[in-house]
Amino acid sequence: MTIAQSNITPELEIYICGACRPKNANPDNPERPGKDLAEQLQEAINTEHLNERFHVKIMQCMSVCSRPATVSLVAPGKFTFTVGDLDPKTATQDIITFAKLYASSEDGIPAWKDRPVSFQKGVVARTPSFGASHQRITELD
Ligand code: FES
Repeated sequence: MTIAQSNITPELEIYICGACRPKNANPDNPERPGKDLAEQLQEAINTEHLNERFHVKIMQCMSVCSRPATVSLVAPGKFTFTVGDLDPKTATQDIITFAKLYASSEDGIPAWKDRPVSFQKGVVARTPSFGASHQRITELD
């Protein structure tokens, strides 16, 4: 399956590591759960007609190698939200649910209570965008 991209500017991009092996797999293991997840996610996004809002991209290593599958949501002016430990068999709808919350949030930090459990437990980092100003950020002189 090809991950299709359009020329329309999306609300957000969803990066998935396509290089991770399953947890505790040996180095010869050919499985790539993140790649499988990306393909399933793209299919679900197409089915739900969300492909103009959410673009899926595969990235080769996001430096969270011990916590596959790993996903980052990125949007202009919002915190980048990175989550690991996503099970490719069950994560597709959780990602879509979170992506909708993320897109509708002002800063890219949806309320914890509203997030799918996998996005409550698996958070790796939330990182401000360049030049961000936010109540959680303190400027130093
Ligand atoms: S190989 Fe997937 S984060 Fe490094």
